[in-house]
Amino acid sequence: MHKDVERILISQDKLENIVNSLAKRIEKDYNDKEFIMVGLLKGSVVFMADLMKKIDLDFRIDFIVASSYGSGTESSGKVRLVKDLEISPVNKDILIVEDIVDSGNTLNFVCNYLMTRGANSVRVCTLCDKPSRRKVPMEADYVGAVIPDEFIVGYGLDYDEKYRNLPYVGVLKRSVYEK
Ligand code: IMP
Ligand code: MG
Repeated sequence: MHKDVERILISQDKLENIVNSLAKRIEKDYNDKEFIMVGLLKGSVVFMADLMKKIDLDFRIDFIVASSYGSGTESSGKVRLVKDLEISPVNKDILIVEDIVDSGNTLNFVCNYLMTRGANSVRVCTLCDKPSRRKVPMEADYVGAVIPDEFIVGYGLDYDEKYRNLPYVGVLKRSVYEK
């Protein structure tokens, strides 16, 4: 285990099970639809790479970068689009893949944006959900794990752009960010 991690919250085995069961549900729901899988960079990359390999359907992938100013472990409410889609969302069914829903600000913004751009439907698949932190209403359609209010890293999730490569999801030691 990494020295900055207090404890493992979701092990590699558990992550594999989560990804497999989410993929099965998505396969069932999108069986007759040609959807676009849209990852929110950068946190979703590891999760999305594993997830898409398990979905036996035809679909396109694209990415969005949304930034919510703010620093440290808190995000501000103001979200802006840093990198837009390359594929047109008009009349398309879109499945957003995200690492974690926290305040809900990011996804609230991105979902509204895609509907405004003319998407036919927008659903959200998130690896983790911290419902106790919600500031705006946001309910993901596919949730890997509901987690307590702790700051987590690994499997794509970062603190200060580090720890994304850890193969598990772990709770970051408070001493790392409380300085
Ligand atoms: P929201 O807009 O507050 O829902 O924040 C969502 C974004 O904040 C996520 O995509 C993450 O990048 C980041 N975030 C929220 N909680 C955590 C955490 O515990 N660890 C790492 N990143 C987090
Ligand atoms: Mg993120």
